[in-house]
Amino acid sequence: MTTTLTIRRPDDWHVHLRDGALLAGIVPHTARQFARAIVMPNLSPPMTDAAGVLAYRARILAAVPSDLEFEPLMTLYLTDETDADQVARGYAERAYVAAKLYPAHATTGSARGVTDVARIMPVLERMQAIGMPLLIHGEVTEAHIDIFDREAVFIERTLAPLVAALPALKVVFEHVTTREAVQFVMDAGAQVAATITPQHLHINRNAMFLGGIRPHAYCLPVAKREEHRLALRAAATSGNPKFFLGSDSAPHDRRLKEAACGCAGIFNAPFALESYLAVFEEEAALARFEGFASEHGPRFYGLPLNAGTVTFEKAAVKVPEVIQADDTALVPFHAGETLNWRLLS
Ligand code: NCD
Ligand code: ZN
Repeated sequence: MTTTLTIRRPDDWHVHLRDGALLAGIVPHTARQFARAIVMPNLSPPMTDAAGVLAYRARILAAVPSDLEFEPLMTLYLTDETDADQVARGYAERAYVAAKLYPAHATTGSARGVTDVARIMPVLERMQAIGMPLLIHGEVTEAHIDIFDREAVFIERTLAPLVAALPALKVVFEHVTTREAVQFVMDAGAQVAATITPQHLHINRNAMFLGGIRPHAYCLPVAKREEHRLALRAAATSGNPKFFLGSDSAPHDRRLKEAACGCAGIFNAPFALESYLAVFEEEAALARFEGFASEHGPRFYGLPLNAGTVTFEKAAVKVPEVIQADDTALVPFHAGETLNWRLLS
């Protein structure tokens, strides 16, 4: 007898779909797995106004295969110049559902990010007043701070003071990677939540150096020590509604990753659910997968839960070594590995 698992249709609360020629090759992977996704605005140039966001949304919808239903939930990219009235107007018009704070130069596409949170306090105060979520890439950027400490230092220097100053602001601490981040989110009020990626549940920092340098295990925030991976696994599988699925799938052309200075980002969209499911099974927490994948996110964002269901079958799935998008070769997370659950379409 085959073993199956059926859950409410899940959503991805953090994904990079890219743009241009790549879009049509990327969007279907996410649309096949998820009903909705929070789409990151770190394009070049970044999505800094409602008109640009709406045009991008239309391009994404045009790339959704006709047999799939998929709703992109858009985000606005905050800069030092972002205007509070304009943010509120676009939110009221439903151009976007949240705004993203990238500390300037923290990661891919963050050059126009915020240089100092103090500069955007009027925007954040307005977001607090209108109940608009702030999504945060939580890393300090100073070169002298060890890259493995940048998330924990960000909590002390920026996040904790911000949450104290704006106690009703809805905050998603994106792609948390440390024990400190898990603890901070658990200790904060219900207005603070976090997303967790599949890669940070599967790998620790050794994966980047396994027999040589491994560019496809490199993303930002970078994977940390084993103790942190274990803290993330405990949080994700705990049933705590503050933690939910956000894949941070971030495809880059294989040639740009396998390079002297390779790009940060792991392309996990094609098998994201199967990847998370492996973790929940290993942790004997399959019964808590639906909450993490399909319930905690919409409840935090104040959106309805999805109506349909998806079913997984206990069956081996071989992840390809390479996936093509347009003329671009992408190496997926788990390339060449076999996963134990298969999403039935
Ligand atoms: C993301 C990208 O490539 O856009 N890269 C990554 O390593 N996660 C940017 C980001 O989310 O930090
Ligand atoms: Zn991201």
